[in-house]
Amino acid sequence: MNGMNHSVLSEFVFLGLTNSWEIQFLLLVFSLLFYLASIMGNLVIVFTVTLDAHLHSPMYFLLANLSVIDMVFCSITAPKMIGDIFKKHKTISFCGCITQIFFSHAVGGTEMVLLIAMAFDRYVAICKPLHYLTIMSPKMCLYILVTSWIIGVIHSSVQLVFVVDLPFCGPNIFDSFYCDLPHLLRLACTNTRELEFMVTVNSGLISVGSFVLLVISYMVIVFTVWKHSRGGSSKALSTLSAHVTVVVLFFGPLMFFYTWPSPMSNLDKYLAIFDAFITPFLNPVIYTFRNKDMKVAMRRLCSRLVYHRKIS
Ligand SMILES: *[C@@H]1O[C@H](CO)[C@@H](O)[C@H](O)[C@H]1NC(C)=O
Repeated sequence: MNGMNHSVLSEFVFLGLTNSWEIQFLLLVFSLLFYLASIMGNLVIVFTVTLDAHLHSPMYFLLANLSVIDMVFCSITAPKMIGDIFKKHKTISFCGCITQIFFSHAVGGTEMVLLIAMAFDRYVAICKPLHYLTIMSPKMCLYILVTSWIIGVIHSSVQLVFVVDLPFCGPNIFDSFYCDLPHLLRLACTNTRELEFMVTVNSGLISVGSFVLLVISYMVIVFTVWKHSRGGSSKALSTLSAHVTVVVLFFGPLMFFYTWPSPMSNLDKYLAIFDAFITPFLNPVIYTFRNKDMKVAMRRLCSRLVYHRKIS
């Protein structure tokens, strides 16, 4: 029976944000700019960290990995959305929709775990500086990475296992521009109250829980720095404030999205844009423009490139 219903509905239709030509044009320019800037900025971080031996430390390895994750994250929904902006009939297949949801939750979950790992890294660096390199060994970094990907994939699979079997037979309109779980559940022609609850618990609690965990760990760090206030503390605090900014910008919209009981018509669409485009773009801005070592390394890399070109 369920299988038959599946074949009835083979695609979903996105309403998009608006029908006004001017706003669509602005949206195209805006999203194209931010998407390209995110990819470029994060590529610069990955190349700088990989090519500059001075940055071969756990913190920068984690940062480069975060950049890779950001690039994947904004490539899940952005290219299709940008390509769809001027289409009258914006559609996505059932499989495409499930794929979008799977990857955005897997990658998003991974990013959360990685942000927690980066807070742990700062905690060890600031509170236990003498043991930093033994605790954050290359093996530990790899372990952190593998664990965060595993947790991300599990988090995403657990939710989707229940969704793929739902009967979809009637409405197929997404009042959005990409597939997400809350919208998809509302389209199923069966009672999904329990599933919706499960999604709120799974995604909502994970984001709120990680956020609280991060805030507490940053408070512990700030308290430790303040207690042993020495020369290096202002530098430590400036790195920390970069982390805290990223965390607030990443989790703020997410927590709202998954825990707010009834979505407000347009606000959640704009928040979704924020998460899809602006957060991946902000990471490089926040981490590179405020970080002296990173800036020095980028300058060194640039002059090396110019020098090579002159010789050849
Ligand atoms: C990600 O982290 C691992 C482990 O520290 C490191 O070997 C790898 O180079 C990092 N990836 C990037 C793109 O820097």
